[in-house]
Amino acid sequence: MPDITHTAVLGAGVIGASWAALFLAAGRSVTVFDPAPAAEARTRAYVDTAWPTLTELGLTGRGTPGALRFAGSAEEAVAEAGFIQENLPERLPLKHDLFARIEAALPPAAILSSSTSGLTLEALQQGWRNPAPLILGHPFNPPHLIPLVELTANAATGPGILERAEAFYADIGKVTIRIRKGMPGHIANRLQAAVWREAVHMAVEGVASVGDIDKAMWAGPGLRWAAMGPTMLFNLGAGDGGLQAFCDHFRDTFNSWWDDLGQIHLTDEVIETLVAGIRQEAGGQSPSELAARRDAMIVALQRALGDMRRSA
Ligand SMILES: NC(=O)c1ccc[n+]([C@@H]2O[C@H](COP(=O)([O-])OP(=O)(O)OC[C@H]3O[C@@H](n4cnc5c(N)ncnc54)[C@H](O)[C@@H]3O)[C@@H](O)[C@H]2O)c1
Repeated sequence: MPDITHTAVLGAGVIGASWAALFLAAGRSVTVFDPAPAAEARTRAYVDTAWPTLTELGLTGRGTPGALRFAGSAEEAVAEAGFIQENLPERLPLKHDLFARIEAALPPAAILSSSTSGLTLEALQQGWRNPAPLILGHPFNPPHLIPLVELTANAATGPGILERAEAFYADIGKVTIRIRKGMPGHIANRLQAAVWREAVHMAVEGVASVGDIDKAMWAGPGLRWAAMGPTMLFNLGAGDGGLQAFCDHFRDTFNSWWDDLGQIHLTDEVIETLVAGIRQEAGGQSPSELAARRDAMIVALQRALGDMRRSA
């Protein structure tokens, strides 16, 4: 039996509804609190839409959408939960207000994981009597499809909380990493920002069309990066000598490329160039049509890679 059988989701917008679908698929019961009048109908519709995809990924064997409940307050939602995912809007006073209301209602062994993209754990811990249950568990949108969760704990986190959170996330199919030193944007968003900065720089410089620069990513390094990270891939880039040989060979090349990378900002003019370029590339397809295509490809990749990753 899994350690944690009942969960709570606080805030069921873009991220919270997706977490709720995944927790349900993984056989947990879920109680949601979200004060928006349409939240219950929206979340149930989201779960119904996500369910066939989760089934295709082989993730619904243990679960049922029927284990979803809605609570009239955050205190009620967390009262019996072993794991709580917080997904309120990215505003510190809102999150502080929530924590002040629920701290006394948390069950003794509960873990409270915040999805925050930009707030630090230290900032979230302000105002608690004892922030031991609180960690950061930052997902990638949508959490029910993309495996990564970036975890942060610190000296004020309770003993065993991080390890139990890792075990819980692993059991529901997530891949977790530990952030040792907080930085704005955590890790994965910084990596995206670094790559996108150069893509934008090259588009503005007229190196190629926006569409071709995107293509250079998905038809090239992007496919390899779905298999392994950039440093491991370069460990394989110079034969048996591994990364040492690769660096010996390409040190000057990379140092000169790094010195040459663009420093760019999203000014009105730059945005205009990008929007015009992507409009041409989309060829009349709407963002929702493109998103459906993206999701179908992500599901296909996940299905293909899932077993290999599990046995690695
Ligand atoms: N959108 C993303 O791509 C993304 C990715 C990773 C992490 N995050 C993080 O996830 C969190 C939620 O982001 P989102 O994009 O889902 O926002 P959102 O605006 O879509 O959803 C927020 C939800 O919280 C509800 N809410 C407001 N006040 C509340 C309260 N007091 N108690 C309970 N619910 C309340 C709102 O009604 C809304 O449904 C943020 O911290 C964000 O940084 C977002």
